Amino acid sequence: MKTLKRIAAGILSAALLLGMTSCAAKQTEASAEADTAAFTTVESGKLIMATNAFFPPYEYYEGEKIVGIDVEIATAVAQKLGLELVIEDVEFDSIIAGVQSGKYDIGCAGMTVTEDRLKSVNFSTPYATGIQSIIVAADSEITDIDMLLAGDYKVGVQSGTTGDIYMSSSVEDGGVGEERIERFAKGNDAVIALTSGKIDAVVIDNEPAKAFVAANAGLKILETPYTVEDYAMAINKDNVALKDAINQALKELTDDGTIAAIVNKYIPAEG
Ligand code: ARG
Repeated sequence: MKTLKRIAAGILSAALLLGMTSCAAKQTEASAEADTAAFTTVESGKLIMATNAFFPPYEYYEGEKIVGIDVEIATAVAQKLGLELVIEDVEFDSIIAGVQSGKYDIGCAGMTVTEDRLKSVNFSTPYATGIQSIIVAADSEITDIDMLLAGDYKVGVQSGTTGDIYMSSSVEDGGVGEERIERFAKGNDAVIALTSGKIDAVVIDNEPAKAFVAANAGLKILETPYTVEDYAMAINKDNVALKDAINQALKELTDDGTIAAIVNKYIPAEG
């Protein structure tokens, strides 16, 4: 019932906004659910997404174009909201601050929901999960997380990611401590350092880990993942209306199977 009312309200406000009274086709195109009057975006008519596009299969370059799961989900969400998606490829550790300061509408970057980030931004409903994985050289003596933590190994991470946050914490807190951490701007730079033996392991999300291992000979992923995380879109805390509209769009895209289809396209179901 509530949904029906929202649909009606969305159509009505879209029609009013566009000054359309008789063009039924256009109304549906602008999305039934988009209550365009209720939220604002950084630039009117656009949904500006900040990402860091070196994180396959969520976001990566195919030639000049940024593609991937996040790009397709954000495109579908923008469409439902009647907005044009604009992608900005930035350093991962600048995304939260940019959303918080009102530079970007959303941060969509395989971004994990964490307590700490929730102090600075809101998160949408999670749309995927990630697991932190450990990549080592194929002939590495390291066999599990305990060995990695206990030894004197150097660990590479992408700066500002959850891999960085966990690994740089003290040994008592389940990390290896600052001295053993090497930070890289991109996950792939850490992987390159690993292939040349400069570091002993890389801690990064499982899907990019698989992609990097497939693209670089002589590496393997340890079978000891140690955290499961939720991925969601970061949204400015003051823009609750945008969060609500995005969540509504994500709900519709989940219910009609769009999200599952996008994920399956990039991550074929195992087995
Ligand atoms: N899930 C991790 C985090 O939120 C890593 C995300 C990195 N994303 C990227 N597009 N480079 O910290």
